[in-house]
Amino acid sequence: EVVDAGGQVLLPGFVDLHTHLREPGREDAETVESGSAAAALGGYTAVFAMANTDPVADNAVVVEHVWRRGRETGLVDVHPVGAVTAGLKGEKLAELGTMAKSAAGVRVFSDDGHCVADPLLMRRALEYSTALDVVIAQHAEEPRLTIGAQAHEGENASRLGYAGWPASAEESIVARDCLLAQHAGARLHICHVSTAGTVDVLRWAKDRGTRVSAEVTPHHLLLTDERLATYDPVNKVNPPLRTAGDAARLRAALAEGVLDCVATDHAPHAVQDKDCEWAAARPGMLGLQTALSVVTETMVRTGLLDWRGVARVMSERPAEIAGLADQGRPLEVGEPANLTLVDPDAEWTVRGAELASIAANTPYEGMRLPGVVTLTLLRGQITAREGKIV
Ligand code: DOR
Ligand code: ZN
Ligand code: ZN
Repeated sequence: EVVDAGGQVLLPGFVDLHTHLREPGREDAETVESGSAAAALGGYTAVFAMANTDPVADNAVVVEHVWRRGRETGLVDVHPVGAVTAGLKGEKLAELGTMAKSAAGVRVFSDDGHCVADPLLMRRALEYSTALDVVIAQHAEEPRLTIGAQAHEGENASRLGYAGWPASAEESIVARDCLLAQHAGARLHICHVSTAGTVDVLRWAKDRGTRVSAEVTPHHLLLTDERLATYDPVNKVNPPLRTAGDAARLRAALAEGVLDCVATDHAPHAVQDKDCEWAAARPGMLGLQTALSVVTETMVRTGLLDWRGVARVMSERPAEIAGLADQGRPLEVGEPANLTLVDPDAEWTVRGAELASIAANTPYEGMRLPGVVTLTLLRGQITAREGKIV
């Protein structure tokens, strides 16, 4: 079949290091199947499914279940992320080796939703990860500094009456774990960087040779704490939306490479968990189907990245970080490819109800955004075309 790609941009299939698929446990918000459809429509050919499911993915049975559901669905490569910790309070190290050697072949372990506050536990996790040659993806929050916190600590939060979430809760743990990773000789990945101060910490750590990589979400590139005035829980996310100054630093750092890649932190929530008071609402936003458009708006239209740069931050760097040998490298002639075709000039209006996710909690409701994914190919097979699953 010949596809007319006139005027469009051909990119390597996107790789998302940070997706919440909610299966098992919260199938009223998302399943492997519905999340895979959202991923394919968003131009993704691989997603890393976060471990904070119910039960938690801290053992081979759960990661193999998620992995198998991904294979059965067949729309995107679903790579389960294992939990770093296990136990009722996450008080001990999970059996990382068992998950790594399972059929799921887990390469990334995370404390997302279960922050490793104990430095000794984190140190042991990092040492273990070095021996296994896997990556610890760290949620970047010192939980003892964010108890009760609701929104970015600053002028807006205090004026509007939100309990403040300090930037130092993120910056201090990133600094700590960069030091621990360097001592362990480990590779560390920082999830959802949200502050200018964390960019400074990462620059310092990279300059001194720490093997650290970092991701930024589309929402932290575009949205700011100015949105808090409406008290709409759709804007509640962890880490919180920061200031316009923070967002500008994140965009510059992504262009420069201090931030390595974009990851969605796609976080579907059931209606009753968002359609409620701010304090009761769950943190998180949908991201898979809007990521490319938000990157087009914030990075391409501003001249910060060209399309070569988009390929780097959406596909090549995340594939390298997670050790996906089969993504983001030059293809052999005739080899079935993971590819995404993007119309850079087309625009669309985001409607949560029309997204493939079961949940509808998009912060971009009604927004007109540039950059439309027109075709996604997984190993040479069309998975999505013109906004429809194939
Ligand atoms: O906003 C968030 N939602 N941040 C996280 O770290 C977890 C996620 C979730 O699981 O809903
Ligand atoms: Zn997180
Ligand atoms: Zn997350």
